[in-house]
Amino acid sequence: MPHVTIEAPEKLPLYIQQEMVPFPYMVFPVYVNDRDLQTFTEADHYDKLVGVVLRRPADSTGDRPGEVSEIGTLCRVNQIKKISDGRFKVTLEGLTRLRILETEPAAAITLARCEVLSEFVEKSMVSEALVQSLNALLKISLSHGKPLPDDVMKMIDYIDNPARLSDLVALYVNLPLSDLQDLLETVDPLERLKKVYVHLTNEVQRMQVKNEVNTEVNRKVGKNQKEYILREQMKHIQEELGEDDPKASDMNELRRLIDEAGLPEEVKKIADKELKRLERINPASPEHNVSRTYLDYLAGMPWNKSTQDSLDMIRAEEILNEDHYNLKKVKERILEFLAVRSLKGNMKGPVLCLVGPPGVGKTSLGRSIARSMGRTFVRISLGGMRDEAEIRGHRRTYIGALPGRIIKELFRCGSNNPVFMLDEIDKLGQDFRGDPSSALLEVLDPEQNFSFQDHYLDVPFDLSKVMFITTANQLDPIPGPLKDRMEVIRLAGYSTEEKLHIARNFIIKREIEENGLADYPLEFSDEAVTRIICEYTREAGVRNLQRTVGSICRKVAKEITQKKEPRTMITPEVVAELLGPKKFHNEVAAEQDRVGVVTGMAWTETGGDILFVEATSMPGKAELILTGSLGDVMKESARAALSYIEAHAADFGISADAFENRTIHIHVPSGAIPKDGPSAGVTMVTALVSLLTDRPAKRGVAMTGEITLTGRVLAIGGLKEKVLAAHRAGVRRIVAPERNRDDLEDIPENVRAELEFTFVNEAAEALAVAL
Ligand SMILES: Nc1ncnc2c1ncn2[C@@H]1O[C@H](COP(=O)(O)OP(=O)(O)O)[C@@H](O)[C@H]1O
Ligand SMILES: [Mg+2]
Repeated sequence: MPHVTIEAPEKLPLYIQQEMVPFPYMVFPVYVNDRDLQTFTEADHYDKLVGVVLRRPADSTGDRPGEVSEIGTLCRVNQIKKISDGRFKVTLEGLTRLRILETEPAAAITLARCEVLSEFVEKSMVSEALVQSLNALLKISLSHGKPLPDDVMKMIDYIDNPARLSDLVALYVNLPLSDLQDLLETVDPLERLKKVYVHLTNEVQRMQVKNEVNTEVNRKVGKNQKEYILREQMKHIQEELGEDDPKASDMNELRRLIDEAGLPEEVKKIADKELKRLERINPASPEHNVSRTYLDYLAGMPWNKSTQDSLDMIRAEEILNEDHYNLKKVKERILEFLAVRSLKGNMKGPVLCLVGPPGVGKTSLGRSIARSMGRTFVRISLGGMRDEAEIRGHRRTYIGALPGRIIKELFRCGSNNPVFMLDEIDKLGQDFRGDPSSALLEVLDPEQNFSFQDHYLDVPFDLSKVMFITTANQLDPIPGPLKDRMEVIRLAGYSTEEKLHIARNFIIKREIEENGLADYPLEFSDEAVTRIICEYTREAGVRNLQRTVGSICRKVAKEITQKKEPRTMITPEVVAELLGPKKFHNEVAAEQDRVGVVTGMAWTETGGDILFVEATSMPGKAELILTGSLGDVMKESARAALSYIEAHAADFGISADAFENRTIHIHVPSGAIPKDGPSAGVTMVTALVSLLTDRPAKRGVAMTGEITLTGRVLAIGGLKEKVLAAHRAGVRRIVAPERNRDDLEDIPENVRAELEFTFVNEAAEALAVAL
């Protein structure tokens, strides 16, 4: 029969405390200060044994409050260790129950006379049944999720000592101190076993009820809440893992962007409201996308982002010169314009408008201006734009609505003070969808554009820091109110010589690089370039020149990939070989002088051009036929010419009957191209006189000038373009109005050197030169 006998001295140091009820077999620590430690050091004299006993709490409702219990535990002091807070950790091992017979204070400690209580159980049916039931109950309790420490669990199956089992279980069940003390004082093991059994039964019942409630609750919690709970858990897990919930982090990111975007107060309010709305919209719905895109635009607009202006005019001039050959006057005007702006410190005032034929460098000048000011460059082409919404955007209520081009480009460039080029403003359309020019007016007007309203954005945006530059081929088609806001700078076009320079210094280098020939030493001879200029292109600018140089480069590149010997020099012969027969002939030099055919000069959208005025007569009604798509002004100019000649017939040596019963026909070839303007007046007079006096007119003389009924020659526009075009076509002599003499200095030196000029006041002077 298991049976515990422990020898103990008659007297023992007694540790009286209020925290715990130690049981036999239990190893436990107590934490004590210096004073209490003496009890345990004293144990050295008592086989390392002490008594530990509970003083009943003074406020306890149980019996004998405040008294030291009669029954305590005999413990062995296993270890004493000083711990960091200055106290001592004493490890004790419970051995057996102890009855305290008498206490006597001795100096700082208490000594007690005690008696060890031996426990002895007679194995019986009752004890066995009780042990079995307790084991079963413990297992049920385990299944309800109350774990036992591993070693205890192993022991349970082996324990056949009911005394020990009851003490173990007493520790396992959560019991208040008073119940524990009661169990300690229940010295009869069988009696104790019964009490523990009751306690454990209660505990298991409590657990059963709790689990039932839990399952019931779980069953009732709907799918939604379950999802919510799962989400919360996921969030938790993601946080643990350092990952963020994608939607939440997306919204946080958006909020951060909006907070940092520097929105004006009013706009910020709108954005915050929209943000709140967005959070409530189901991410799968299309509306979510609409709201999201809108907020992206609000957050992404450069509300307060601008680039630092560089106001160094010397550097600006250098940059303009780096990018463009010549254009002296233009550059000067641009620099003046920039200087005024930089002195004033704002962009208010007229808008720069670069007017000139295609390919003379308007767009690329705009780019250079941006570079010289240190600003970003954006460009939109207004050509063919008919819908106001393209400028101003659509309201968000439209499906697929987006901001207009102005806002879109500012969003894209990320700065609120770019150089903003409105290209081809003369090609702006207008129809039932609204008038884009009125929207543009608001954009360009410094009095209005600080609060530009885009329909999509729906909040004002300040455009006053933007530097707008417009370009046009012609001034006339630009709506008046827009024209009024502009400071016009004209670019006329280049002579062959100038084009050669541009090709040599800019175009060829660029095209060679762009077509992947940077590693091949390809050169163009000047003669080759001149040949391209004169025989393969005819234009005021250099766009086709650039294109043609590019196409030669591509052909050379193709030859290289075909493993042919790479060319190193492009000569005029190579040009002919690669490009085929020449595209343009020298109309003037190739033709003979004829009666009634006179060379004129016209000013067109694409620069200047030469034209031929042909006059002929035939028997018939006395009338004037005009053909060749002539405009009203040109027709009137023809009639005026005829009237002037009839009136002064004698002076020109024309017989008075030359007009009787004869139909006179004036035709201007290239009949499909509309022509207009008064500047062909002198040319028509000359053609008619040549016809009527039967004297051939010199092809190599090109003329321009408006004529009055009295034969005076009036000034015309675009002399430089006209002269350059005539020069290109091989004309040797120019007849122009005296009043245009000052324009001569615009014409490049070398062109001037190759031409003879006659400035005339009267039509008669022109006749003298041409006939
Ligand atoms: N004076 C010049 N110096 C150097 N390159 C020029 C000059 N004028 C025009 N170019 C070049 O010619 C090409 C066409 O010019 P672009 O600006 O597109 O003409 P536009 O806008 O007037 O039609 C560009 O590559 C430009 O750099
Ligand atoms: Mg352009």
